[in-house]
Amino acid sequence: MGMNIAVLGAQWGDEGKGKIVDLLTPHFGIVARYQGGHNAGHTVYVNGRKFVLHLIPSGILHEGVRCVIGNGVVVDPQALFAEIEELARLGIEVGDRLLVSEKAHLILPYHRELDVLSEARRGERKIGTTSRGIGPAYEDKIGRRGIRVCDLVDTRALADEVRENVNARNQIIRDSKMEWQTVYEQLLAHGARLRPWTGDVSLALHDAMRQGRRILFEGAQGAMLDIDHGTYPYVTSSNASIGGACTGLGIPPRAVHGVLGVAKAYTTRVGEGPLPTELLGDLGERLRESGQEYGASTGRPRRCGWYDAVAVRYAVRVNGIDALALTKLDVLDGLEAIDICTGYRVGDRTIDTFPADLNTVGPCTPVYESWPGWTAPTRGVCRYDDLPDEARRYIARLEEVSGVPVAVISTGSDRAETIIRDDSIAARWFPAASVHLA
Ligand code: IMP
Repeated sequence: MGMNIAVLGAQWGDEGKGKIVDLLTPHFGIVARYQGGHNAGHTVYVNGRKFVLHLIPSGILHEGVRCVIGNGVVVDPQALFAEIEELARLGIEVGDRLLVSEKAHLILPYHRELDVLSEARRGERKIGTTSRGIGPAYEDKIGRRGIRVCDLVDTRALADEVRENVNARNQIIRDSKMEWQTVYEQLLAHGARLRPWTGDVSLALHDAMRQGRRILFEGAQGAMLDIDHGTYPYVTSSNASIGGACTGLGIPPRAVHGVLGVAKAYTTRVGEGPLPTELLGDLGERLRESGQEYGASTGRPRRCGWYDAVAVRYAVRVNGIDALALTKLDVLDGLEAIDICTGYRVGDRTIDTFPADLNTVGPCTPVYESWPGWTAPTRGVCRYDDLPDEARRYIARLEEVSGVPVAVISTGSDRAETIIRDDSIAARWFPAASVHLA
């Protein structure tokens, strides 16, 4: 039986999962997304060309790989079609390689408006969402009034549901004169266009597993943005952590044979909410500029700070992360000293696990260790032994304080700029992975 691996973010998203998934895809027959929506932005560079995928797994860039969008994902049909068209322009045909769950919920035009409205209402307490309608679509799902892919047939039930939903929203959204008939007609058209790609994802994955095909479960956002385990309420509205893979695809826990967490060699976050290691001065600016830390979906500047081992350790525990892929190590090139946060100081106590109550996180002061930086560039280094001593020492310390080995190291944005350590679990998961780096 093939080994199935989940790849998920161990911080606040934007860890570089897109590149890691893209790199590992040749080892899998299927890449399956289980949560989130087009709030995600996975940037992949292939032969110097930049691809940004929001909804379709980046596995689509590989010939013969099937890509799955699970029931846990919220789908904006317009965004999906736009992405399919953009891929076609770049010479990549989706064809029959895409499967969208018939149980996936849809993002409708009023969800986007509600997202913006809800942020405006929160004022200073705004979440800093991507304004894509993600939260309101999940609210409707949990409120049992959502519309799913399989509902898009010309039935009385759909017409009734749309009429009720649109009329209710028109009362909430001031000056909204959205006509339910227009939304209904649009949905029928979307349904007809979507039909060739829709099906029973759970069944398809079970059949594939029986045939020995390997599946890569692709998480969007990151563990610290998880609706249950993240920095609530400054989170996204889905389970970005490992549990989401089971509920969001209809697969049992035993179908996940390993978890690869992706973490940057420092920390970033986009949007509001606590970021204990945030650097507000020149250093933060330096990380933002050399790391090109601007949102792939919204272009917003990301907040930057030192590596937070408290957060990563927490993500390791919640997700059962077996190993880390450490990304953007090269961004730290040339820094004189690099700090690692190993705990938080709250009053006269030091805590070493991430607290639930944001009133505790807010006033905490990170406890830092300072490590010497390196002068020789790590950019593009492909062998562990070729890294400067100080960089290897930094990685070894990150492993100790994060409680997990680092199996993969990314030293640049291209596929080839990667180290896969032969002595790590990755070598078992992805035999001869380095063959695919070129
Ligand atoms: P929403 O997912 O649009 O509702 O946004 C909720 C929070 O999650 C905001 O802080 C967003 O900036 C953040 N977020 C959503 N998607 C991503 C992502 O792909 N990367 C990083 N942050 C994200």
